[in-house]
Amino acid sequence: MKPFSIMLSMLAMGVISSTAMAEGIMLPNVSPANSDLANRGAYIARSADCVACHGENYAGGSPIATPMGDIYSTNITPSKRYGIGNYTKSDLKNVLHKGRAPDGMLYPAMPYPSFSGMTDNDIDALFAYLQTVPAVDEAPEYETKLPFPFNFRILMVGWNAINVPSTEKRDGLTKVQQRGEYLVNNLEHCGTCHTPRNSTMGFNKQKYLSGAPLGNWHAPNITPDKSSGIGSWSEQDIVTYLRTGELDQRAYAGGPMGEAVAHSTRYLKDEDLGAIASYLKAVPAIQADDKVTPVDVSRLPKPINESITHDLIAQIDYLEQAKASVAGGSNSPEALYLAACGSCHGINGYGQPDARYAPIVGLSSIRREKPDALVNVIVHGVDGATNTSPKMPGFSEDLNAEQIAGIANYVRVNFGGLKDSNVSVADVDRIMTTKPAQPFLIKYAGILAGLGIIVALLLLGLLVRWLLRRKSHTY
Ligand code: HEC
Ligand code: HEC
Ligand code: HEC
Repeated sequence: MKPFSIMLSMLAMGVISSTAMAEGIMLPNVSPANSDLANRGAYIARSADCVACHGENYAGGSPIATPMGDIYSTNITPSKRYGIGNYTKSDLKNVLHKGRAPDGMLYPAMPYPSFSGMTDNDIDALFAYLQTVPAVDEAPEYETKLPFPFNFRILMVGWNAINVPSTEKRDGLTKVQQRGEYLVNNLEHCGTCHTPRNSTMGFNKQKYLSGAPLGNWHAPNITPDKSSGIGSWSEQDIVTYLRTGELDQRAYAGGPMGEAVAHSTRYLKDEDLGAIASYLKAVPAIQADDKVTPVDVSRLPKPINESITHDLIAQIDYLEQAKASVAGGSNSPEALYLAACGSCHGINGYGQPDARYAPIVGLSSIRREKPDALVNVIVHGVDGATNTSPKMPGFSEDLNAEQIAGIANYVRVNFGGLKDSNVSVADVDRIMTTKPAQPFLIKYAGILAGLGIIVALLLLGLLVRWLLRRKSHTY
């Protein structure tokens, strides 16, 4: 076969295997031994991504970083001692709808503000399913210990009154979009990452899905805004991205989004991904300040030849040749790119699909006006989305700010298709040293709580005086 027809047949195979996956999605936790109800629950658990935090075996113990400290997920296997083996259906409903567990209020690191819209049918199925997973008779290794006053879980009652539910139902949606709304808001809880927070750490509803910082990542604007959001994506683009974690020469799902795809969205039925896409097209477009330059395909590099991305040995040769012939000395941006990044992402950014090293040509993360996303990736690296996916190392030790800025500019212009890029040493220093801002209430909650206690004591004093007076009146 000629290379071209090989490519065609590979393409065809790709298409066939991806549709096969879409049709008969291999849901890992579905078993013929289970009832239909439990199997439906397994699908709900996937769509609500319970494993993202509670772990593949649901035994808990993963930290969720919050400005107040780490909150650890709990064991939700049917273990009677350490898990939720004693739960009734209504206990589970109270957890999901109100953040109220049998032994106390939960912190919203458990996304009940989103799950609060889950239907009774879905909760029934989830309850049936959770009883079929193997019990793990062990407590998670770590327990949550937040500082005063956040260790008073009862404070959450006040927080819930303001912030639950976290989203509102929109008018004028089609049936399909209503399904998409339910998936986005109440099962997949996309807003927990993509919606900015208000001063109390609840969702800022005016900025619904318009992008938010997420530790060293930034969850981008996913409203249909053309300049900063995904207004130029077709519904099929959104479906492809959520199914595969990639959109050729456009976008890649790394970090937390890679996990959301790996654990959850890739298992969704075609019709559900379609519903999400249709709904995302119908939400109000919000312009965020992080603009993204449209991809200009004519400025993107061409692969060296058609088979190069699949031929690792040839890639090594090309890389050595490129390194030997690079102009401008070993500290030039090109030389730095080839030395630090080229072995995984290839000389022209097409990566190594077979080794699952990401292609970075044209990605939205390197086309943004703000270089923060790219610089953070270079500085901190990327943990693979699953145990078996390759990782990208961070370069904070090996490269200085000037070298990082040089590589960032090189990548943005040569692989992002930008006309120019002026990431400066000062930008890199700023990005490397900024800590996520703490919302108002978190910073001042200690003071607020202190004030609250003083006010409560004063009121108590007045009450006691009044009671004493009343006593002396009656007698
Ligand atoms: C974004 C992370 C996250 C996701 C997603 C998540 N949880 Fe949780 N969950 C947590 C954390 C963290 C806690 C403990 C919160 C605390 O200590 O206040 C928790 C607590 C719970 C509890 C209370 C257990 C107890 O101690 O009584 C239950 C039940 C639960 N989750 C079920 C689920 C189910 C079912 C899903 C999927 C529908 C789910 N969770 C999805 C993070 C998550
Ligand atoms: C755990 C946090 C998290 C959750 C949950 C999450 N996302 Fe993301 N999302 C991200 C991050 C971070 C990125 C940036 C990924 C990158 O650049 O590699 C992203 C990227 C995206 C992009 C690409 C945007 C672009 O311009 O490149 C789309 C589309 C998207 N998410 C949609 C969704 C949808 C729909 C959901 C719910 C089904 C969702 N996300 C849930 C964190 C999250
Ligand atoms: C050891 C291999 C390796 C090296 C070296 C490496 N990367 Fe990566 N890179 C990866 C892998 C693997 C991913 C995808 C991670 C994932 O699947 O979540 C990635 C992802 C990326 C992404 C996509 C981020 C996103 O989600 O949008 C960018 C951009 C990137 N790398 C740039 C670089 C640059 C620039 C360098 C050199 C400073 C570099 N990489 C060095 C392996 C590497």
